[in-house]
Amino acid sequence: MKFDITQRLAIDGGEPAVRTPIPPRKRHGDMEKRYLNEVIDSDTLFFYLGTKVHEFEHRFAALYGKKHCVACSSGTAAVHMAIACFELPPGSEVITSAITDMGSLTGILYQGLVPVFADVEPDTLNMDPASVRAAITPRTRAILVVHHAGLAADLNAILAIGREHGIPVIEDCAQACGCEYQGERVGSRSPIATFSLNHFKHITAGSGGMILTDDEHLRYIASLFLDKCYQREESIRNPFFLAPNYQMTEMQGAVALAQLERLGEFTERRRQLGTRLSAQLAEVEGITVQRIQPGSKHSYFLYLFQLDLERLGCAAEEFAEALRREGVSARAHLITGGRPVYLYDIFQQRSAFPSSHYPFESSDLNTNRSYPRGMCPVAEDAFNRWMTLELLENYTEQNVDEMAFAVAKVAYHFAKRPVASHTQ
Ligand SMILES: Cc1ncc(COP(=O)(O)O)c(C=O)c1O
Repeated sequence: MKFDITQRLAIDGGEPAVRTPIPPRKRHGDMEKRYLNEVIDSDTLFFYLGTKVHEFEHRFAALYGKKHCVACSSGTAAVHMAIACFELPPGSEVITSAITDMGSLTGILYQGLVPVFADVEPDTLNMDPASVRAAITPRTRAILVVHHAGLAADLNAILAIGREHGIPVIEDCAQACGCEYQGERVGSRSPIATFSLNHFKHITAGSGGMILTDDEHLRYIASLFLDKCYQREESIRNPFFLAPNYQMTEMQGAVALAQLERLGEFTERRRQLGTRLSAQLAEVEGITVQRIQPGSKHSYFLYLFQLDLERLGCAAEEFAEALRREGVSARAHLITGGRPVYLYDIFQQRSAFPSSHYPFESSDLNTNRSYPRGMCPVAEDAFNRWMTLELLENYTEQNVDEMAFAVAKVAYHFAKRPVASHTQ
């Protein structure tokens, strides 16, 4: 490390480690304006009659080497659409990760399906295949694998479980656009994969989502599901199942299309910066960087690392505060609100729908599933130990080096101090 980590900490009155301003971020520009103008000039904001959403679908599918992309209004809508495509009977169980966004779960619940949570691996925070296997019951009808924070889950192992039990694996790639597994983009291998274009993602249309599939039947059901089950392709209006309106507008499509041109640049830049940061943090005692499987490429939706709390003698929040005082945008890992999703009230109180425990407990469905604390111990403990650093494509190498310096400095001093003095 080119900096002196023995320098006084900022919390003790020293100079903050981070001195170089982060350049301003500018994600949208002339291309978006041009495409948006074209949409306005066309006087058609409706996807089915316009060109931008269709062109975006075509280009996104081509990028992943898939036959079909179906665009929709959000990543939540995309997961809902993907789940609905399998036409599962209410009361069926879907296994997913204990650490994910609520958007992975909304569609499961709306379809009357029961989420079952797999624990995560302690060194990646991705679904642990052993826990997925242990969660299988005779009612399991799908696995929704989440690639958390831009790091690919152990897809081969999870796909193998799906094959063994004859159940589909759906990939939730909302956090993993551009992330790779064994040389392929995640989202290419499973029958259906979902994506998000929300504000926080690598590329964004404010909101938006899409699914990818090679299967014509799944594509067809998805296209009905996002459109009230109107059969526009056949000019028939006779809905035969319950479906919301999850259309992507032409304005979202215009922005998404422009953003697609920058996806490679954004992910590659984040990857370079994340790799640079990890190389430096790997040398810091008391810190463990995320394990990346050989052949995988992280896309650093979030930059995460783990603290050795016993060695550092502090709580994650204290470490985060010391880092913030060094000028680093750091938080104890809180992406799911600081707890596994099953500890949300909706699962604890089984309150998806008013005055009912449906679909968790229902005599019609013959279900009775609850989510006790301690169910996924690794996921529960993760929130005590993992840190999240902001790392975006506009950061420079100097910014990253100063962040690494800050982490090294804080770790060095915390490890050296008597425990009681950390929170002075
Ligand atoms: C893993 C995962 N799935 C689904 C979603 C839902 O996406 P959206 O916010 O676009 O509805 C998100 C959003 O953050 C996510 O991280």
